[in-house]
Amino acid sequence: MMCYTTAINGVFAALIAGAFWFTSGGVTAAFLTNLLFYIIITPVIALTLTKIMFMGENGIIVGDALSRIDGVLALAPLSETKMPVSPRDNSVELEHIKFSYDGKNEVIHDISLRIEPGQTVAFVGPSGGGKSTLASLVSRFFDPQGGSVRIGGVDVRDTPKGELMDTVSFVLQNSRLIKASILDNVRMGKLDASESEVLSALEAAQCGDILEKLPQGIHTVIGRDGVYLSGGEQQRIAIARAMLKNAPVLILDEATAFADPDNENKVQAALSALARGKTVLLIAHRLSTVAGVDRIYVIDDGRIAEAGTRSQLLEQDGLFRKIWKEYQTSAQWKVAKEGTV
Ligand SMILES: Nc1ncnc2c1ncn2[C@@H]1O[C@H](COP(=O)(O)OP(=O)(O)OP(=O)(O)O)[C@@H](O)[C@H]1O
Ligand SMILES: [Mg+2]
Repeated sequence: MMCYTTAINGVFAALIAGAFWFTSGGVTAAFLTNLLFYIIITPVIALTLTKIMFMGENGIIVGDALSRIDGVLALAPLSETKMPVSPRDNSVELEHIKFSYDGKNEVIHDISLRIEPGQTVAFVGPSGGGKSTLASLVSRFFDPQGGSVRIGGVDVRDTPKGELMDTVSFVLQNSRLIKASILDNVRMGKLDASESEVLSALEAAQCGDILEKLPQGIHTVIGRDGVYLSGGEQQRIAIARAMLKNAPVLILDEATAFADPDNENKVQAALSALARGKTVLLIAHRLSTVAGVDRIYVIDDGRIAEAGTRSQLLEQDGLFRKIWKEYQTSAQWKVAKEGTV
């Protein structure tokens, strides 16, 4: 496009250069009429060509948008069961799960595990191991190609969608808020919640400081008039949403990075308040959070590499111990760094 524009507008330069070249041989009346003709006609041609170029470009943009819309429409909806069964308790079971995003590269190979009602289980492991993928299978964002996910003893494919939504709530790694007021964002967790219910959920999720600095408090629209929240703040709002929903099975995918320790502590406090009394699947990036959990699964390359309590895993000379040591070193480094400031 740049070349095209340059070429078209370059005609002017050629015109001027040509004029100088010819005038060196003396100015005649015929030459002047010619020059006048070209001066009038050249902008018209350049303008027309530029218009054609923009039309072509818009055509490409429209084609691209249409193909993306087609892509969304072509997605097959998750199947709805003909014989719905309700979950019997709040347990979560994965049985021989196999999953691939594109139908070719399998990212979950063969994972089986069971979380008893009220238990907290943590997933840890290297980046790209498949932790978030497993969490999205339990929330039924996708269905596995092999094996089954059971909540309350019932395959999630046989549970009515509404009931599944009432049973499972999640706070995802990159919780994104919608461009609406804080009130509406939190209310997505329970549509008929009163304003005071929303406020107490926000308070329990440690969002007091966020509300204080916003011009219209709970009615402030996020994303408008330069109101933006940090990743940690957005995650706390997402926690408030899950708090309001109060579903018995909870999936927590910790945010990976926090700018400041204060935010991190607030998120931790909010998460532990939310997790109380629920069946929890916690994806932990900071190993400080796995201290009190019932069982830890180390997920590596789509498989369970190790499983056990923290002390059991530390006794083995395996992946968990390695990650743990690395974590300790980085935590000490952080303390040292903060100490020097
Ligand atoms: N939407 C997607 N489409 C295609 N491949 C994906 C998608 N999401 C994840 N993957 C791939 O699946 C594998 C597992 O990714 P996943 O996000 O589950 O890892 P993770 O254990 O959560 O990592 P992290 O600790 O960095 O959050 C990776 O190889 C990743 O590239
Ligand atoms: Mg992840």
